Amino acid sequence: MPKTIKKLAVLTSGGDAPGMNAAIRSVVRTCAYHNIKCVGVYRGFEGLIEGDFKEMDARSVRGILNKGGTILKSARSNEFRTKEGREEAYKKVIEAEIDGLVVIGGDGSFTGAMVFNKEFDFPVMGIPGTIDNDIVGTTHTLGFDTALNTVVDAIDKIRDTASSHNRLFFIEVMGRDVGHIALNAGIAGGAEEILIPEEDLGLDRLVESLNKSRKSGKSSSIVVVAEGDKIGKNIFELKDFVDQNMEGYDVRVSVLGHMQRGGSPSCFDRVLASRMGLKAVESLLEGKTNYMVGLINNKMELTPFENAIKGKTKINLELLRVSDIMST
Ligand code: F6P
Repeated sequence: MPKTIKKLAVLTSGGDAPGMNAAIRSVVRTCAYHNIKCVGVYRGFEGLIEGDFKEMDARSVRGILNKGGTILKSARSNEFRTKEGREEAYKKVIEAEIDGLVVIGGDGSFTGAMVFNKEFDFPVMGIPGTIDNDIVGTTHTLGFDTALNTVVDAIDKIRDTASSHNRLFFIEVMGRDVGHIALNAGIAGGAEEILIPEEDLGLDRLVESLNKSRKSGKSSSIVVVAEGDKIGKNIFELKDFVDQNMEGYDVRVSVLGHMQRGGSPSCFDRVLASRMGLKAVESLLEGKTNYMVGLINNKMELTPFENAIKGKTKINLELLRVSDIMST
C-alpha cells in the first residue's frame, strides 16, 4: 500500500533551463490545491544532503512564472553519487517528514533520483528540464522552445551584420552532444549549412555547400554548428580551415554560449511546465514513483526513469531533408 503523501519536496538539478521556475510554481500550487505541504530544496541534490529546505506555499511562487533560471538554484552534486551522500540526504528528508520528491532536471538528475528511490524506496518523480531536448519520453524538454527562440533571434541579428559585410559566420550553439537546437534553429534562421553530431558531413561537404551558396549569388553565409559536432574541428579551427583553403571568404565566429540557457520562458514552455508540475504531483499522490513526466502526442505521459535515461532522442530525418532543401 503506497504511503500517504503529506509533504513533497521539489528541487532543480543539472544545467538550468527557462521554464524551471514555472515548473516549481506548478508543483507548489498543485500541492496547495491538494492541501499537502511543499518544501523547496536549494541547490539540487547538494541541498538535499545539507537539508537546505524552505517551506513553500502558493504565495512563495508568485511572480516567477515569467522568470528564467531557477529560484531554487541548481548544482551538479558529486557527493550524491556516493552512498554516504545519499544516506545523508535520506536522513534529512526523513527528519523533515518529506514523503516524496519532484526532481526537475536532465538525465543525470533522473539517474540520481532513480538510485535514491531504489536504495530507500523513496517516491520520486521527474520533470525533464534541459535546453538540449535530449531525453527519451518527451517531444519537448522544458527550456528547449525558449532556447530555440533565443538562438533564432541571435542568428537573425548576426545575419544583419554578415550581409552588411559579405561575411561567412560560424555560429556555435549548445546541445551538449545532440543537434536538436542546431537543426531546428538553423532551419528557422535560414542557415546555409548546419553541422550536427548525428550527421558527420565532413569538411568536403561543407566546402561544397559553401561554394554552392556562393555560386547561387549569396554574398554572406551562416553555418550553425552544434557544440558536440564531430566534424573533427572546433568552430575556430573551421574558421582557420576556410581562411587557409577557400579564397574570398571573410570569416567570423560567434559562440552563443550560456545566453541560450537564460531568458523569460516562452508561452509554450510556461504551459508545458504548468502541465508537467501538476502531472508530477498528482502521479505521486496516486502512489506512482520512478517516472518522468513527458509530452507525447500533446498528452502528459509517464516514462519509467530507466527508459528516459537510456540513450538520446534521435534527430528527425525529415527535418534534415527540410534543412537540405531550404538551403538551396
Ligand atoms: O545540458 C545543458 C547544457 O547547457 C548543454 O547544452 C551544455 O553543453 C552544458 O549544459 C553546459 O554545462 P555548464 O553549464 O556546466 O557549462
